[in-house]
Amino acid sequence: MSTGTNIVFFLAFVSSFLSFGLQAASPDSLMLGCGSENEDTDADGRKWLPDSKFVTASNSVQAQAQYQDPALSSEIPYMKARIFTSNATYKLSAKSKQRYFLRLHFYPANYGSHNAEQAFFSVMANGVTLLKNFSASITCKATTQAYIVREYSVAPLTKDDLELTFSVNTGFAFVNGIEFVPAPDDLFDQATLVGNPDQSFDSKSSNLQTLYRLNVGGSSIPPTKDSGSLGRTWYDDGSYIFGANAGVPNLADNKTKIEYKDIPDYSAPVDIYTTARSMGPNGSVNINSNLTWMFNQVDTKYMYIVRLHFCDNKNTKANQVVFTIYINNQTAEPAADVIGWSGGIGKAAYRDYATILDEKSGGDLWLTLHPNPDSKPQYYDALLNGVEIFKLETGKSLAGPNPKPSEMLEKNEEEQKKNFENQKDKETGSNKAHVIGGAAGGAAAAGIVAALCIAVYQRKKRVQGTESHTNSWLPIYGNSHTSGTKSTGSGRSNGSRHLSSAAQGRCRRFSFVEMKQATKNFDETNVIGVGGFGKVYKGVIDNGATKVAIKRSNPQSEQGVHEFQTEIEMLSELRHKHLVSLIGFCEEDNEMCLVYDYMSRGTLREHIYKGNKTHLSWKQRLEICIGAAKGLHYLHTGARWTIIHRDVKTTNILLDENWEAKVSDFGLSKTGPDLNKGHVSTVVKGSFGYLDPEYFKRQQLTEKSDVYSFGVVLFEVLCARPALNPNLPKEQVSLADWALHCQKKGILEEIIDPHLKGKVNMESINKFADTAEKCLSECGVDRPSLNDILWNLEFALQLQEGTDSGSTGLASRTRSDSDDASLRNQHMMAIHYSNLSLGSESEIGEEQPPPSSNNNEAAPDNDSAIFSQIVNPTGR
Ligand SMILES: *[C@@H]1O[C@H](CO)[C@@H](O)[C@H](O)[C@H]1NC(C)=O
Ligand SMILES: *[C@@H]1O[C@H](CO)[C@@H](O)[C@H](O)[C@H]1NC(C)=O
Ligand SMILES: *[C@@H]1O[C@H](CO)[C@@H](O)[C@H](O)[C@H]1NC(C)=O
Ligand SMILES: *[C@@H]1O[C@H](CO)[C@@H](O)[C@H](O)[C@H]1NC(C)=O
Ligand SMILES: *[C@@H]1O[C@H](CO)[C@@H](O)[C@H](O)[C@H]1NC(C)=O
Ligand SMILES: *[C@@H]1O[C@H](CO)[C@@H](O)[C@H](O)[C@H]1NC(C)=O
Ligand SMILES: *[C@@H]1O[C@H](CO)[C@@H](O)[C@H](O)[C@H]1NC(C)=O
Ligand SMILES: *[C@@H]1O[C@H](CO)[C@@H](O)[C@H](O)[C@H]1NC(C)=O
Ligand SMILES: *[C@@H]1O[C@H](CO)[C@@H](O)[C@H](O)[C@H]1NC(C)=O
Ligand SMILES: *[C@@H]1O[C@H](CO)[C@@H](O)[C@H](O)[C@H]1NC(C)=O
Repeated sequence: MSTGTNIVFFLAFVSSFLSFGLQAASPDSLMLGCGSENEDTDADGRKWLPDSKFVTASNSVQAQAQYQDPALSSEIPYMKARIFTSNATYKLSAKSKQRYFLRLHFYPANYGSHNAEQAFFSVMANGVTLLKNFSASITCKATTQAYIVREYSVAPLTKDDLELTFSVNTGFAFVNGIEFVPAPDDLFDQATLVGNPDQSFDSKSSNLQTLYRLNVGGSSIPPTKDSGSLGRTWYDDGSYIFGANAGVPNLADNKTKIEYKDIPDYSAPVDIYTTARSMGPNGSVNINSNLTWMFNQVDTKYMYIVRLHFCDNKNTKANQVVFTIYINNQTAEPAADVIGWSGGIGKAAYRDYATILDEKSGGDLWLTLHPNPDSKPQYYDALLNGVEIFKLETGKSLAGPNPKPSEMLEKNEEEQKKNFENQKDKETGSNKAHVIGGAAGGAAAAGIVAALCIAVYQRKKRVQGTESHTNSWLPIYGNSHTSGTKSTGSGRSNGSRHLSSAAQGRCRRFSFVEMKQATKNFDETNVIGVGGFGKVYKGVIDNGATKVAIKRSNPQSEQGVHEFQTEIEMLSELRHKHLVSLIGFCEEDNEMCLVYDYMSRGTLREHIYKGNKTHLSWKQRLEICIGAAKGLHYLHTGARWTIIHRDVKTTNILLDENWEAKVSDFGLSKTGPDLNKGHVSTVVKGSFGYLDPEYFKRQQLTEKSDVYSFGVVLFEVLCARPALNPNLPKEQVSLADWALHCQKKGILEEIIDPHLKGKVNMESINKFADTAEKCLSECGVDRPSLNDILWNLEFALQLQEGTDSGSTGLASRTRSDSDDASLRNQHMMAIHYSNLSLGSESEIGEEQPPPSSNNNEAAPDNDSAIFSQIVNPTGR
């Protein structure tokens, strides 16, 4: 079943968020932006030349994609294509006897009248078939990628050019980018035959296709950081680890200098050899287990070269660690001794193994390491630093069939189609029921409450008109790693994966057994919340060392599957002090769980008006709001794309033991907006009481919709009442309306939390209320950005701190405008909101303000009581 073509590179945007240290491309390398008329620079700073001089076709069209998928890592080269209506050939000049990397980039989109769904074509390079009846559209769909890159290593040429021929099978052929990069001619050599370690296979003059290239135990490495200017992308290996023992990532300490003694430095970048994965510290555990990687969707009946990169950064002597390497359960290397091979600590080495994948394998390739007790090593352990898998040409061909989308994916799409048809009328009703239930009952609000509505993952094609721009989540890669993964003819496929390997690589995978252990078999007493997705349980992992919250999907339904995917894709990508961190996930058979950091103090709502808890001081409330605003600000501006949360509310703001606020629940989040349109048009989602009226009316989502919801949160914090309270008189039911009304009438003071009255600096309250009011402006453009909100909240905090710290309430009352200005300047310097980028979480997270003291009590009422007598309650 999974005899699909090999998914070479699911170029998730991983590569692009790593730093952009540039390494000059090799001077002889050629990068063609197909269909482009000018030289263009991509997001990594690499230059792409126009292709017209290289192609011999009179029958080709230069075309522009009509839709830019947010998952594209760069506009260049994907937004332009060259389209061929009949056979055409590129002639790329080359040095003879030189090996080359050839990379073909495909972005299946609508190009004017040419819809990539109709394109089936073949590609040959100097007589070797690279692709046959290839559909980029089907391949992307099956792998849920926005685009694909195929990499080939072309054997040393006997002539001085490469003829790259596109021939049309049905419809037309197209290509977005071509990279032709000279490579060292000794890149491939002898490979040991698996199952027959005495023999070797010579791959010196073979054409190969790259299937996998992983930095084991480390993170992705973008093309610009590759060694030897070869432009290779290395992915992390997390998603390919199989089985109970995932090993432990190791990082060489900074004293160990990586040396390339016996191998050239273009073999792999230093980062490959700096990081490794080993089995772990306990030898008696190791000897009874295996460290295994599983690679699927590998075409059978081809030979493969498996290149393993090693560098031991811990041991110094031979025979300290010796292990056996199995490939597809056959012995590839009976006794691997890395130090023995490389000659010492920090010395890099690699080994090539050749294996033939037969039908029996079912298209999976297994790599297993196991300690070798026979050689009596000092430690029972095993390690690996990097792996590359290449397919070897057979009968002048490297092509495989188009992959089939997983049945589960297809089924989901069908359901979405149905959902969408019913959606408009249904949605309002179901939303309302949930919200009123929540507001009245309140019980459901405890813990993490999953998004109430079913996120419908719209694919752009079937929802033209209203949904022109909503598809294209972060890429999701259909991939299977769990046992029993083969889908069985009919019904739901078993354990097929829906996550991008990138996302999988960034977080831990748990087995379902581990989930059961963590939660005492999902004991009801451990339930801390209930949501649309299922129940949320408290649990412990790592032998009780880590407390976690585990969201389990309802095993009977597949409804949560998209929220599940969205949340993993989003959260694994985003790391910020004020976003709930995803530790990992479990996807096994039909079970899906998400594992988060446990937030011991629950939701913000519980602390402002639910339950019977101590009341938060004004300062604590401000700090919590500031934290939440930082989290949202990061979503809006810090990641590569604007991310709109869509469900900002007090139950989605969680508190850790230090009262640090963390934004949670990304089940409804959207990337966007489209650069041109400035908004995402979409079916309205979110929670009543918090819904942006503009979004509701026009169904156009912008980050200002989150600002509106956040304004409601601010008023909730100030007034200590729910966003909607159906028990109140009609004009008071909606907090947003009521608070605005009171604010306009100047009587807001009457509705603020009685616990705050008399204890706070009213200027601070007024600043806060003004900010909240602006957030609720009718038109999105009139609402402040989160950056402005943050500044205002920080200012409100300063006003309050001025009061608390005993610089006397009098002083704060008489603070002049020039003081305000200097305060503002201090803030501007302290907080670099404008310079956010992924991975620089500390910039926004850690400078301001210091965490509030870790107490359960409200702030010292003593002081506040004194100040309350001095502070002029009407402010300035
Ligand atoms: C190409 O593939 C499509 C879909 O997989 C199939 O319907 C068609 O028959 C194939 N054409 C050729 C020439 O193999
Ligand atoms: C296009 O190329 C294919 C494969 O090389 C060949 O079979 C076909 O005859 C060519 N068509 C034309 C019109 O030349
Ligand atoms: C090396 O690591 C140690 C601690 O692991 C650290 O104290 C030291 O500053 C590091 N040195 C460099 C040059 O990074
Ligand atoms: C190794 O693991 C075994 C079995 O889990 C345990 O009994 C033993 O104490 C562990 N040894 C060490 C040194 O942790
Ligand atoms: C480890 O893998 C090898 C090869 O696949 C297999 O023969 C062996 O039984 C495995 N051992 C364990 C403990 O899983
Ligand atoms: C290899 O071993 C694993 C378990 O260790 C098993 O699931 C898999 O089917 C085996 N593969 C082959 C080709 O025998
Ligand atoms: C899923 O796999 C399990 C174990 O491999 C098997 O018992 C079950 O029937 C499978 N379910 C489906 C729907 O294929
Ligand atoms: C809060 O707790 C106190 C004492 O524990 C109790 O007397 C009071 O009735 C509770 N209030 C509410 C609203 O539950
Ligand atoms: C950071 O901010 C400074 C000052 O505003 C600006 O000069 C610099 O270009 C910014 N850096 C980035 C990476 O945006
Ligand atoms: C301040 O609070 C402490 C303990 O709560 C109390 O003993 C003290 O009398 C209070 N002081 C004033 C001025 O209220």
